[in-house]
Amino acid sequence: MIGAVLKSRATGVAPDIAGGYNLPPPHVISHHRLVLNRQRMAARPMSVIDEVKDRIDIVEVIGESVKLRKSGKNYSGFCPFHPNTRTPAFAVFPESGTWRCFGACNEGGDVFSFLMKKEGWDFSEALRILAERAGVELRPHGSAEQAVDEAHQRLRTLLEAVIPFYRHNLLQTPAGAPVLDYLLARNLSEQALEKFEIGYAPNSWDATSSYLMDKGYRQQELKDSGMVSERESGGVYDRFRHRIMIPIRDVRGRMAGFGARVVDPEDVPKFLNSPQTALFDKGRMLYGLDKARKAIRTADQAVIVEGYMDVIALHQAGFANVVSPMGTAISESQLRLLKRYSRRMVLALDADAAGSRATLRGLTVARETLERQPDPIFNARGLVRHEGRIDADIRVVTLPEGVDPDEVVAHDPAVWTVLIDGAQTVVNYVLEVLTADHDLDDPKAKSEIARQVLPLIEDVADPVERETYRQNLARRLKVDERALIAWRPRSPRRRPRRDISTEARVEGAVSQRVESPIERFSLGVLLYDPELLYRVDRNLQALSLGRLSPQDFTGTEHKVIFHAVREALAQEEEEPARHWRSCIETPLLALSDSLLAEVIDFDFTQPRVIEEIMANFLRLRKRKLELTLTHLRFQLQAVQEGESFEEEQEGDVWHHTREVQRIASEKDRLDRALAGHGGPNQTTLIAEGW
Ligand code: CTP
Ligand code: MN
Repeated sequence: MIGAVLKSRATGVAPDIAGGYNLPPPHVISHHRLVLNRQRMAARPMSVIDEVKDRIDIVEVIGESVKLRKSGKNYSGFCPFHPNTRTPAFAVFPESGTWRCFGACNEGGDVFSFLMKKEGWDFSEALRILAERAGVELRPHGSAEQAVDEAHQRLRTLLEAVIPFYRHNLLQTPAGAPVLDYLLARNLSEQALEKFEIGYAPNSWDATSSYLMDKGYRQQELKDSGMVSERESGGVYDRFRHRIMIPIRDVRGRMAGFGARVVDPEDVPKFLNSPQTALFDKGRMLYGLDKARKAIRTADQAVIVEGYMDVIALHQAGFANVVSPMGTAISESQLRLLKRYSRRMVLALDADAAGSRATLRGLTVARETLERQPDPIFNARGLVRHEGRIDADIRVVTLPEGVDPDEVVAHDPAVWTVLIDGAQTVVNYVLEVLTADHDLDDPKAKSEIARQVLPLIEDVADPVERETYRQNLARRLKVDERALIAWRPRSPRRRPRRDISTEARVEGAVSQRVESPIERFSLGVLLYDPELLYRVDRNLQALSLGRLSPQDFTGTEHKVIFHAVREALAQEEEEPARHWRSCIETPLLALSDSLLAEVIDFDFTQPRVIEEIMANFLRLRKRKLELTLTHLRFQLQAVQEGESFEEEQEGDVWHHTREVQRIASEKDRLDRALAGHGGPNQTTLIAEGW
């Protein structure tokens, strides 16, 4: 029985994790398998992540940016994430290595999630920096990975080395002079050209490759970096010739590739990017993000424009929160990347073809290109879905006919601000564009508009927003809202709508530094079979409990992995059990694999194993509630004992008390479910095939 294994593990699991629970009676999971499993769990070496958590003093790290006051075993202070000056709403619990805000954020986590939230880092970044601080060596898992890492590093150095070469050609050669003139004539300043490291690739088949070979790079490395193309006859030639060279860096500022614009307007394609390489994945990166991320966080808004040149011009004009894709449609992974810095995003689209974009048919105007994908940067339906999935606020604005953003700011920077402030939600934008083109008294036209906009509205995740759009549409079309409802697709093939507000936030729960075998097991099971999550959610809902969320897990690493499972279920391109791998940051792959390895021996077909699994999810939830309760009680006490107990703080006390009651009653419900589960009364859980 899993519970027994958990309880008897010798590696220092706090007894209250399993011990205090009403564990269901032992079930029939074959015995030798469990023994195997126990050995594996016990033998598991301490991971780098654990080691970092162990060595880092969370009070010290948080104390660097938050003034903390000791109160018993714990610390309290004012929350750095929301305006908080009255009652300290923020607490740090050194014993469990966690923090929590009881105020407006109502969030918490471990030292990783604190820094991720505060600095906008992803997990890998937080791990890297904390490991360095803790003096823990971050070795990629295994020597193969290490070799790959070194090869990547070498490619980056190669790309880095080309930049001064292209700069030199732009600034110091006769061939570069007219190109520089062109750039300056476009109102780009020398400082901007320097900041973005703009260069010029000479009109030669081998100048770049010779330069690199002289520096000691091998032909294979030139190929791997995407700087050369291969001849049919063997041999290579420079990929970029007679082009303006735009270095592309990843979010951390490391070289990844180049974008290259023609100098001669007759040349095609107008833009040529590095090919897909180990470092360059244009669908997952955003141009300029390394330079924009700070400003995006400060402004709490990211602006996405269409072109490289626009990014540069806008940064030059003082709008540093601007990025662009690289000729591909905006992907969800790009939006996710942005969302680390702000959930508010504005898409500033070139005016051309606004109409055809809004009709969801995509961009029909062919751009003269071999490189450019048929997808437009704007796909209304895709955006609405992404928006819901990642809980972002995406708005759209079209630029005035015939002007690019760079021309707008060159003319008058204030106009840019006005434009961006006028951005509309995707649905309203589409509605606007469509109704602008049509005679709204023509019944056929109305019907056509409804046909196009309604599916979009159906995809809006927020019910209130959805309803508002429907009313809006009805008003615009001057029809009764009930007529629109009749339009709703009969059998929507949509996946169940996800509760974004809670689950998209990766941070969120209190955690306990003692790593939890229940948690590892539950996560392992989901990695093995992501679809199980649907069943778990159904069963939680049947018990009037919220669906499983990242907050059910303690360590940030587990939350991030859980999040990837959700993501894998939300997409339709690939098997979820395969897909989560591509959603997970590299440093977490090893952990995921070890979680998977711990459950792989279970015979999932045995009749009662599923029940056992469910019991563990219930325990997981229960533990989370118990921790929340403990922390809330601490906070309640801290407020009441505070030096300056003022009248207004009564509100906080009341709020906390109510919260304690709410969580206690949720826990009661869970206790009953756990007691009943495995006992005679299993009806709620066995419904639908359990
Ligand atoms: N693009 C591309 N391939 C093309 C044309 C465009 O990848 N053949 C991408 C580039 O990322 C480019 C963006 O689409 O930056 C916008 O294209 P466009 O408006 O034509 O270029 P601008 O960036 O505005 O460049 P310029 O102002 O110099 O014409
Ligand atoms: Mn342009």
